Amino acid sequence: MQFIYTDEFPCLAYRKLGKGPVVVLLHGFPEDGNLWRNIWPALSEDNTVIIPDLPGSGESTFTGETLSMEQLANSVKLILDKEGIDELVLAGHSMGGYIALAFAERYGHMLNGLSLVHSTALADTNDKKENRRRSAELIQRGGREPFVKQMIPNLFFDRFKQEHPEVVEKQVREALKIEAKSLVAFLDAMRNRPERTNVLKNTSFPIQFIIGRNDNVIPFNNILQQSHLSNSNFVSVYQSCGHMSMLENPKALAVDMKGFINYCYQFENIR
Ligand code: MLT
Repeated sequence: MQFIYTDEFPCLAYRKLGKGPVVVLLHGFPEDGNLWRNIWPALSEDNTVIIPDLPGSGESTFTGETLSMEQLANSVKLILDKEGIDELVLAGHSMGGYIALAFAERYGHMLNGLSLVHSTALADTNDKKENRRRSAELIQRGGREPFVKQMIPNLFFDRFKQEHPEVVEKQVREALKIEAKSLVAFLDAMRNRPERTNVLKNTSFPIQFIIGRNDNVIPFNNILQQSHLSNSNFVSVYQSCGHMSMLENPKALAVDMKGFINYCYQFENIR
């Protein structure tokens, strides 16, 4: 683990693996960088892979009570500055994708490609905003554990859950390491995020969409409609897969991400 210490983020922790063109992997909610453990060995064969714990997750912290996607994107920029990186492919799982889109809006000139893994450029619907508000309230009233125990199994495809209960249980344990304050700050940050489909429309770099056919969080049709908006799109739909392909379907995800990253760096040479 590597660490950066700032006033806003008393500790920013990240993993740095491998050598070669840079790829940064952002985890989702409520997770930390370990989420990518099944993918990073393959990606780090040919690439430098940076995997942060986002502030409020794993070993990373933040001051104050609130977070925003823009602030989280800036925490990623701090890591890149420390590492002297000005060119990368950025991948984000779900909430990590919302952060990646905020990063692309502000620092798009640094990107050679953007991979949205079970994520969306749309804002929350009103129903979803209301659900998040209720979840935050429940957590603030001491309901962190029931929230996590109800949420995590819903991220997986039913058959996977039945066949691999230990994977689901591990994710529950990981999520329970995250403090109530951070869970609430992430929920509010997701609820307040704007739609960012313009980022998809206005970019010149390729965009990858990894889609789970049975994802309960990011509806299949909703993401499919976005997957043709940019100039250059890579779309993979995994059958019998929920929201967590890095755990449910890691071999296919690693192959698809490696292919995309290679393409992005070659495409950059002919752009
Ligand atoms: C995530 O996996 O990051 C969250 O489920 C995303 C969300 O709730 O929108």
